[in-house]
Amino acid sequence: MQILVTGGCGFIGSNFVRHLLASNPDDQVVNLDLLTYAGNLESLSDVEADFASRYRFVRGDVRDEKLCLGLLEQAQAVVHFAAESHVDRSIGGGAEFLQTNVLGTHNLLECARRAWDGETGNSFVYVSTDEVYGALELDDPELFREDRPLAPRNPYSASKAAADHLSQAYFHTFGLPVKITRCSNTYGPYQFPEKLVPLMIANIVAGEPLPVYGDGLYVRDWLQVSDNCRATEAVLRQGRAGEAYNVGGNAERPNLEVVRLLVELVCERLGLELEERLSLITHIADRPGHDRRYATDAGKLQRELGIAPAIDFEEGMAGTVDWYLDHQDWCQRVTSGAYRDYYQKMYGQRLEQAGTGGVQET
Ligand code: NAD
Ligand code: DAU
Repeated sequence: MQILVTGGCGFIGSNFVRHLLASNPDDQVVNLDLLTYAGNLESLSDVEADFASRYRFVRGDVRDEKLCLGLLEQAQAVVHFAAESHVDRSIGGGAEFLQTNVLGTHNLLECARRAWDGETGNSFVYVSTDEVYGALELDDPELFREDRPLAPRNPYSASKAAADHLSQAYFHTFGLPVKITRCSNTYGPYQFPEKLVPLMIANIVAGEPLPVYGDGLYVRDWLQVSDNCRATEAVLRQGRAGEAYNVGGNAERPNLEVVRLLVELVCERLGLELEERLSLITHIADRPGHDRRYATDAGKLQRELGIAPAIDFEEGMAGTVDWYLDHQDWCQRVTSGAYRDYYQKMYGQRLEQAGTGGVQET
């Protein structure tokens, strides 16, 4: 089977491409990626070397109709990861999010519809997010289930929900074999260091402030990336067309607990003084519209496809810390461009305000 993976140079995409090629000797993978700030060819340099005859990289845009049509005519499946993925950046300006996440997904759906007309057995996997459901209260007994109406609350999740709806519409209107994964907060190797886990690891190592938004009691369900990849592959191969599947880690944790664990893990490995590094935790002004809690019921995936997370939260975080400590050169290279300006714009003033007592400590 030839599988088109979009966004394969990003965090989850690069792990997924490696996973597919390593576990399926008969598959060919074509990776379509625009190489935005979040995409790095270096994340797949081992794949280029190890699987040269079954892997091809194409630099291009999911909004490019001619390119996508040509690629889909050759492929039997697409796994669509490509997106603008960072909530904070969407709050700073949402246009790119609508362009790539909504119009890019629409272009791919439309190209697949035309390229696969009359074919059977193909699959279009749209990688959505648990954020499309909106937010839960801390004590809400109901978890997100697939039949819950979508109610996104920030520009990123609104763009992902629009594409989720479009994907469902292409199944209902045209019979396109669309399958959707709605996954929770994923962590592991090759995640761009703007996200909570790698950002904290880098700052703990460097002895810089650890910026925690608001009271830090926001809850996410943490999913190790290889568990996400196994689930995505199961949906691709055995999922029912027209269905959405939640993918969760069964590991709800408040952000402060995640940050404290990361401090402990880094200090243990580098022989740093624990209390000194913990004192770097700095509560800064909150993310506007910050969703209090995401919590996923991933029972459907387990019942229908037999997939459950295999990696325990503490074990997964320990492995992730080891990977980042061993790959500090990768982190430095991927953040060497415009990232410093982004970091200063996002955190500079909020850290200064926290330093002058502008933000309450909890
Ligand atoms: P990422 O930001 O690390 O990678 C995105 C990739 O998409 C990059 O390689 C980038 O170059 C590429 N890209 C961006 N715009 C493109 C375009 N117009 N054309 C082609 N390529 C383009 O993202 P990620 O964290 O790996 O997330 C992958 C997918 O999973 C996204 O759709 C995201 O919404 C979804 N998701 C992520 C998480 C998470 O915790 N990371 C959780 C749930 C869902
Ligand atoms: O839930 C799935 C989503 O998880 C995906 O759809 C998104 O693509 C992915 O980026 C992620 O979104 P979050 O906003 O939850 O991830 P982030 O790592 O940005 O933040 C995790 C939590 O940590 C969130 O409550 C905000 C908080 N945070 C984040 C950063 C970067 C901080 O307190 N400080 C920080 O510096």
